[in-house]
Amino acid sequence: MPRILHMSDIHFGAENTLATAAAAGYARSQRFDLLVISGDITQDGKPLEFEAAARWYNVLPGPKMITPGNHDMPQVSPERLYHPFGRYERRFGPPGSAWFDGAGMAVRAFNTARGIQFRPNWSKGALSRGQAAAVANDLSRTPAGIFKIAVCHHPLVEVPDGPMTARVIGGPRGACLMAEAGVDMILSGHVHTPFAFPVPFADRHTYSVGAATLSLRERGTPAGFNVIDIDASTIRVAALAWTGSHFEPSRTWALPRRTPQGA
Ligand SMILES: [Fe+2]
Repeated sequence: MPRILHMSDIHFGAENTLATAAAAGYARSQRFDLLVISGDITQDGKPLEFEAAARWYNVLPGPKMITPGNHDMPQVSPERLYHPFGRYERRFGPPGSAWFDGAGMAVRAFNTARGIQFRPNWSKGALSRGQAAAVANDLSRTPAGIFKIAVCHHPLVEVPDGPMTARVIGGPRGACLMAEAGVDMILSGHVHTPFAFPVPFADRHTYSVGAATLSLRERGTPAGFNVIDIDASTIRVAALAWTGSHFEPSRTWALPRRTPQGA
């Protein structure tokens, strides 16, 4: 049964050095089918931050995939206007293009971060109808029994009692499309606290699951990451929290999977 290691919001430049190194050690010491990093690998999109991030990422065990967050572009530079993800792309490939098929899973990344937006706060997310439909259509075509996962940076639906909002333009519409397409889980980060809840669409068995941060930018919960175990009936999410010397379980969720059609 698939096991995923899910990390997010490392924010190199403001990373928790000890926790980040220990998380990499954890990844190397355990068996996983996939390592997912859901954005904000850097703090301000600076070249030195991308260099440090790539050094850390490149020695993590695979298979692994990454998608960008709102911090992964130059924060104050004309480059943000005309080529916001150029620095990201040079290190990690085209933004939002990562995918994985294997170990009983189909996983598709997409990009909810934007260089500029027609609103004052450019840190929030956006998702076009075309982006959401492409992910939903792609995953809906995967064979029955394959666990379907979408990955982005911003939670598409606001996290209940979360420490901050994502206000993703087109987010709820996209989550609805994905739920109707039978997507099992949407992985994200951004709020820097772990969460797991069903999105309020379709059969309510599509789950929004998020990892904490590995940076010093904590928002009420310690640095950490998630381990996700998937069996035929249940998605088990364990949030591991950094104590200052090691990671230990802090919260767990057991999420019932949708019953396969015809079962
Ligand atoms: Fe972040």
